[in-house]
Amino acid sequence: MFTERVVSGMRPTGALHLGHYHGALKNWVRLQSEHPCLFFVADWHALTTHYDSPEVIGDNVWEMVIDWLAAGIDPQQSVLFIQSRVPEHAELHLLLSMVTPLGWLERVPTYKDQQEKLSDRDLSTYGFLGYPLLQAADILMYRAAWVPVGEDQVPHVEFTREIARRFNHLFGREPGFEDKAREAVKKLGSKRARLYEQMRTRYQEQGDDTALQRGRELLELAQNLSMGDRERLFGYLEGSRRIILAEPQALLTEASRMPGIDGQKMSKSYGNAIAMREDPESVRRKIRTMPTDPARVRRTDPGEPERCPVWQLHLVYSDEATREWVQTGCRSAGIGCLECKQPVIDAILAEQQVFHQRAQPYVDDPSLLRNIVADGCEQARKIAQETMREVREAMGLDLD
Ligand code: TRP
Ligand code: SF4
Repeated sequence: MFTERVVSGMRPTGALHLGHYHGALKNWVRLQSEHPCLFFVADWHALTTHYDSPEVIGDNVWEMVIDWLAAGIDPQQSVLFIQSRVPEHAELHLLLSMVTPLGWLERVPTYKDQQEKLSDRDLSTYGFLGYPLLQAADILMYRAAWVPVGEDQVPHVEFTREIARRFNHLFGREPGFEDKAREAVKKLGSKRARLYEQMRTRYQEQGDDTALQRGRELLELAQNLSMGDRERLFGYLEGSRRIILAEPQALLTEASRMPGIDGQKMSKSYGNAIAMREDPESVRRKIRTMPTDPARVRRTDPGEPERCPVWQLHLVYSDEATREWVQTGCRSAGIGCLECKQPVIDAILAEQQVFHQRAQPYVDDPSLLRNIVADGCEQARKIAQETMREVREAMGLDLD
């Protein structure tokens, strides 16, 4: 799938739970074998809402990276880093802020929603208003094609696209663009150059989106282009400006069906979560005390799985035969609720055993973890510095 880069981040606000695993993380694990992926700890984003409890952030950064590795994120395949260790993110955020209309930020739906939801915190800060712009900087820095996120984050990716478009519109102009672009086309080699011209014409004359897509793929594959020429050719394909910042697309993560131990969506703030690396005894206790169908007061009362949160867990963890056993046994009062819960307990513990195993080396030797992250930060920074060179130049800041 070419070199289409994937970028995503998570805020370090607590131990990750099974909902994170069955939602975002499983998806990341799949993506890392299909794309170059960068995954980062969004510690600055955590500060926008938790500025009054910095210790929460410090503690959770490393634990979260361990959770990622426990889930199967492979540092050989993915670049793992910490946002604040790549200070270029702050610089890009600042530079983008120069051209970001206040109204755009105020209209991002999460702005008012979160202020209302987290009403115990004072979120009328400059940093919180800028949350989506910092996120835009995270994404645009790596010219990401895809951003795997949940539904609530889609407006942020949309906002990122608008910022990229505005930036290119304002700063992608350059004297002699056409001539430079035509020179760059020649560098593609005659066969590719011909195909590129065809796609460009088909897109510009007929608005053919597949031609635009094919043109872009062709450029992704072209190895020997300088960054400037690449930007010109991406821009020339669809217009008359360099495309310095590429518009990403949201890759919607299907909402995980993972219920918490009360049947509501699993969420740390509902207090119904099971952590990825929770202690087995605590998992047993949580599931054993889970509420079931209220109609089953006595062991002999028949129940209805559809009214029982334990059934939701069977839908995630059990095979067809076990589900059949639950349905029949519950409705006929043939099985008791503790009996019914046992396969779920076993399945969760088996899943978590793998997490514990993968995490153990990093728990035993934190320096392993530090090395992975140091290496990831270095790789991320290399890309970030390239982007910043282009951005600074476009904004008149290359003073040497
Ligand atoms: N805002 C995201 C969340 O709360 C986290 C995040 C920060 C992010 N920067 C990002 C996600 C860049 C994707 C890409 O989940
Ligand atoms: Fe729920 Fe299982 Fe008890 Fe039925 S038997 S009420 S599905 S726990």
